[in-house]
Amino acid sequence: MTGAARALARCDELGRISARQDALERTHLSPEHAAADAVVAGWMREAGLTTHLDPAGNRIGRREGARPSLPALVLGSHLDTVPDAGRYDGMLGVVLAIEVADRLRHESLPFAIEVVGFTDEEGTRFGDALFGSRAFAGGLEPGRLDASDAEGVTVRAALEAFGLDPGRVGEAARRPEELVGYLEVHIEQGPELLDAGRPLAVVSSIAAARRFDLEVTGRAAHAGGAPYARRRDALVGAAEIVVAVERIAKATGTVATVGRIRAEPGGVNVVPGRALLSLDVRAERDEGRDEAVGRIDAAAREICAARHLGWHLEERYRADAVVCDPALTAAVAAGVAAATGQEPPRLFSRAGHDGMAVAAVTGIGMLFVRCGNDGVSHSPDETVDEGDVGLALDAFEAAVRRLAAERG
Ligand code: GLV
Ligand code: MN
Ligand code: MN
Repeated sequence: MTGAARALARCDELGRISARQDALERTHLSPEHAAADAVVAGWMREAGLTTHLDPAGNRIGRREGARPSLPALVLGSHLDTVPDAGRYDGMLGVVLAIEVADRLRHESLPFAIEVVGFTDEEGTRFGDALFGSRAFAGGLEPGRLDASDAEGVTVRAALEAFGLDPGRVGEAARRPEELVGYLEVHIEQGPELLDAGRPLAVVSSIAAARRFDLEVTGRAAHAGGAPYARRRDALVGAAEIVVAVERIAKATGTVATVGRIRAEPGGVNVVPGRALLSLDVRAERDEGRDEAVGRIDAAAREICAARHLGWHLEERYRADAVVCDPALTAAVAAGVAAATGQEPPRLFSRAGHDGMAVAAVTGIGMLFVRCGNDGVSHSPDETVDEGDVGLALDAFEAAVRRLAAERG
């Protein structure tokens, strides 16, 4: 079996470890997280890595370099998923990192290799993303342990149930001098490579993002008895806001999405008294993102004022744009050129990645693999081509070898 075939078989295996029968969903500190973690730990050992779970729940495998305790080149991605996920978002980067470690197992390198399967890149369970990678980079916000999931379970309680000590999460933090850099392979999660007919790209930067909980409050009333002139329908106001979000995002060259909406009290014969929405805003640069957020907030206030509705916006997550490290990016580009015989295109990532957090402690470089199926991701329809995965693996290995040669 080739490394690419084994990597894809492993993505299939991880894709079956799910909280749901009908779909893939694997969230931070869940029983499925523990099950996937155990499987990945086994693959790391097979690849000759010594492995441990760090205090934040990240799975780490390490092989020493030419001497013990050399700084580590970190290769990885994440193991958690969105609801009804595809099998490659995050997982492909982890299994390819393990393949690279396996290929280099007999090499004497001028750095240690660490493979990381980060937890909670997506923020699916607790609403706030990059828990594992922020802890790794020493940038976990103090309030993070008090966030709770839909059942009211706090991160603190979930860590304890998982067998981790909430008081020690800070010990997951790494020091810059322990690290050489971070490289991640990820599916593109968009159609640009597909449209360009190219298998791989080098990532130049990762987009800025902010996420919010939105609340529109009106007055619940009888669906028959309440005349329009007296209604304060929170869901109709929310619907206008959703349309304004798309209009403003298009006008500002950003992307903004309302991915979740709930009307309360939720009766078929009740005018909704409250609507709860999520908002995700992304842009190539922080200023563009913040301008779009400001315009969305102003438009929503106007809509709500005209309909006599209340409006509240609460920030749940913020990540500033991150530029990839020039030396690591050059190594990735050289790796792609060696694997494909072509200079790779450069893309900025519209999706968020663990590298946004890791960049606080060490330089990052990223390699994108073409997605099939119209570039769809965050969906069970996510696909990749085995030939492309083989090229990505060769490029990833060549990038690591190049960094080793530069430092050797
Ligand atoms: C992570 O996949 C994100 O960009 O939301
Ligand atoms: Mn994702
Ligand atoms: Mn991802």
